[in-house]
Amino acid sequence: MEKFGCFLFSLLGGFALIVLVHAQDQTGFISIDCGAEISSYTGETGLTYVWDANFIDTGINKNVTVGYQSDFQLQHLWSLRSFPEGIRNCYNVKVKKGTSYLIRARFLYGNYDSQTKVPEFDLHLGANMWDSVIVGNESTILTKEIIHAPSSNYIYICLVNTGSGTPFISSLEFRPLKNTAYRNEYGSLILFARLGAHSLTNETIGFPDDVFDRIWLPHSFPKWDPITTLLTIGSNDFRIPQILMRSAATPKNASEPMQFAINTLVKTSKLFVYMHFSELEVHLPNQSRQFNISLDGQYLHGPVVPEYLATTTVYSTYVTSGKKGRYEFSIYKAEKSTLPPILNAIEIYTVEQFLQSETDQVDGKVDTNFSRTDPKTPNIGALKLKNPRFTYTEIVKMTNNFEMLLGEGSFRKVFHGYLDDGTEVAVKMLSESSRQRYDQFEAEVKLLLTVHHRNLTALYGYCDEGNHVGLIYECMANGNLKEHLRADSNADVLSWEGRLRIAVESAQGEGGTHVSTVIAGTFGYLDPEYFQTNRLTAKSDVYSFGVVLLEIITNRPVITNTGENSHIKQWVSFMLAEGDIKNIVDQRLQGDFDINSAWKIVELAMYCVSTTSIRRPTMNHVVIVLNDCLSMERARRNAHGNEPKDQNVNLSSDQLAR
Ligand SMILES: *[C@@H]1O[C@H](CO)[C@@H](O)[C@H](O)[C@H]1NC(C)=O
Ligand SMILES: *[C@@H]1O[C@H](CO)[C@@H](O)[C@H](O)[C@H]1NC(C)=O
Ligand SMILES: *[C@@H]1O[C@H](CO)[C@@H](O)[C@H](O)[C@H]1NC(C)=O
Ligand SMILES: *[C@@H]1O[C@H](CO)[C@@H](O)[C@H](O)[C@H]1NC(C)=O
Ligand SMILES: *[C@@H]1O[C@H](CO)[C@@H](O)[C@H](O)[C@H]1NC(C)=O
Ligand SMILES: *[C@@H]1O[C@H](CO)[C@@H](O)[C@H](O)[C@H]1NC(C)=O
Ligand SMILES: *[C@@H]1O[C@H](CO)[C@@H](O)[C@H](O)[C@H]1NC(C)=O
Ligand SMILES: *[C@@H]1O[C@H](CO)[C@@H](O)[C@H](O)[C@H]1NC(C)=O
Ligand SMILES: *[C@@H]1O[C@H](CO)[C@@H](O)[C@H](O)[C@H]1NC(C)=O
Repeated sequence: MEKFGCFLFSLLGGFALIVLVHAQDQTGFISIDCGAEISSYTGETGLTYVWDANFIDTGINKNVTVGYQSDFQLQHLWSLRSFPEGIRNCYNVKVKKGTSYLIRARFLYGNYDSQTKVPEFDLHLGANMWDSVIVGNESTILTKEIIHAPSSNYIYICLVNTGSGTPFISSLEFRPLKNTAYRNEYGSLILFARLGAHSLTNETIGFPDDVFDRIWLPHSFPKWDPITTLLTIGSNDFRIPQILMRSAATPKNASEPMQFAINTLVKTSKLFVYMHFSELEVHLPNQSRQFNISLDGQYLHGPVVPEYLATTTVYSTYVTSGKKGRYEFSIYKAEKSTLPPILNAIEIYTVEQFLQSETDQVDGKVDTNFSRTDPKTPNIGALKLKNPRFTYTEIVKMTNNFEMLLGEGSFRKVFHGYLDDGTEVAVKMLSESSRQRYDQFEAEVKLLLTVHHRNLTALYGYCDEGNHVGLIYECMANGNLKEHLRADSNADVLSWEGRLRIAVESAQGEGGTHVSTVIAGTFGYLDPEYFQTNRLTAKSDVYSFGVVLLEIITNRPVITNTGENSHIKQWVSFMLAEGDIKNIVDQRLQGDFDINSAWKIVELAMYCVSTTSIRRPTMNHVVIVLNDCLSMERARRNAHGNEPKDQNVNLSSDQLAR
């Protein structure tokens, strides 16, 4: 097993008791306040911010609306630079080649353009995709952070318009780090989480408490208690803030290990985990504290013996284990230890190997030909209904007593119908026996109807009367994908190429839109982040699309009633852990497909259904991968002189109804 193949551990003992005081300097810090129109000023943290005019020629200066300025203490978030022109606009920042930098970009929309519409766009490091920028709402402060050592003396940070609104940026910060600390041979580190194990404060920690201006979020684990000291803790190259090192967490129940899990969902993600420890208690001669660390129940490192009032850092690089993308870490007592384990702070990163240099981009100028796919604008009119709630009698009338059945699933049927004004609709009725499964139905649908999401305008209303539960959608008359997938005889089974084509077409065209339409109130398709944020984004569409992809690949229902792995995503990750792709792909294809394209599309689908939206690819990326898969399958077919049957099926909302 390759599980620990790339494991590398290092222990950095603390320096002796060096008294770190407040004389922090900010040598090499570059703090750029985008759109500020003030040449420079000293901000609330004592750092000096400069206007971005020296780093970029394009874009326009804007201020967030006044209300948002008073809401947020950080002045560098009050203004921003907006890029209505050009697909790709880049900042060019002079840095020191070979130095590791923490690079942080922040975004606060603050309704600066009075459009009350939060845009979505991509963030690039030179020619490399860094991340998608999906700002939750008008008052969300979104932070993107990466630790990267540039290979030249310039870094280009680019904002790329993906057709979902005007890109903007509020601030851009560069913090040189000690090269000995985060440097590694695997690539750049993208921040996943950075936490104190038991915060003494509810405040976010940054500069000057943290000399590198890392941002630490307050956190406390319910099963852990703090041990604290007022003494100064010796530091190592990581220079972890005193406030964190002075508070260690330890298990409430001293005989239990300290456990935490990281969920990335994506099986292939690679983690870097840094754990920082300091012993805060003086031991009696018969006492000792020693612990080992395990991942997924397997010994990883130890025994760790933290030094008294010093910082000990243990880090793992490139952990690729993570069955189902879940990494379960455990810090547990070694045999000789009389005291329970401790932990002060954790940092978790994913690693990204950038192939191109960060200056690889047309002359550093605005490259308007960058966009690989034309953004398409779906044309769905918002229907203004005073009351989206329909009575059962109205439903009966609408569907002419359920005259025309469009599709049928295990516990729902879809009928064709007309609204009073003649608008064609699809009416999805839940079976009566499944009524009790959906206690939350009405609350959830109401929520969906109030969400102002452009891709959801096609949900017209609902019915919730006794045992009669239904959803009324915009109607799309087209072929029926499910029928093709569910074909009875093997001769009619939709080929692998046919499936890939449907996937490409629906991803390319208005597929995402249709998907969102379908998922409204359809269990199993909805972005899990929605339940926390009550907000749908383009990445929510990507999630739903991922679920559809899994259906196309496997021909399995999204949700089965049987206990474990009841969601298609859980079933696929379970099967993936077994490693046999042939059992994942619809058995009726009898292995008649390109195996590499199958791996690729399953992996893509699993990325799409990542629980956290930042891990999901963009729709543009999805289209590119799907086209690759289609080419692979076509090449295989041609090599076999095997002309595919023409299977032109379009994907649309009622086809997916179940
Ligand atoms: C933003 O506000 C600042 C301070 O009030 C002002 O100096 C600046 O001109 C404003 N910028 C724009 C683009 O309105
Ligand atoms: C914006 O989103 C945040 C979560 O990211 C939430 O806490 C906040 O209440 C939202 N604000 C509004 C006005 O919806
Ligand atoms: C942090 O916030 C929680 C909940 O608001 C509160 O119970 C707790 O006392 C706070 N802790 C500190 C150190 O302020
Ligand atoms: C502490 O953990 C041990 C081992 O899991 C358990 O046997 C014991 O009951 C726990 N004690 C308390 C007070 O919960
Ligand atoms: C350690 O020694 C102290 C006294 O020096 C005693 O009270 C305590 O019970 C001992 N603990 C153990 C685990 O032996
Ligand atoms: C901790 O690790 C050491 C070194 O590998 C090992 O000898 C010891 O048995 C481990 N302890 C436990 C409780 O697993
Ligand atoms: C974009 O591409 C077109 C056609 O390939 C070319 O004519 C045009 O000059 C390009 N524009 C830029 C700014 O490179
Ligand atoms: C949602 O709708 C918007 C505009 O109506 C469109 O630009 C976007 O591509 C749609 N989302 C997807 C994933 O298709
Ligand atoms: C699918 O859509 C295309 C383009 O809208 C159309 O030309 C084609 O006839 C449709 N196919 C089916 C089977 O409906």
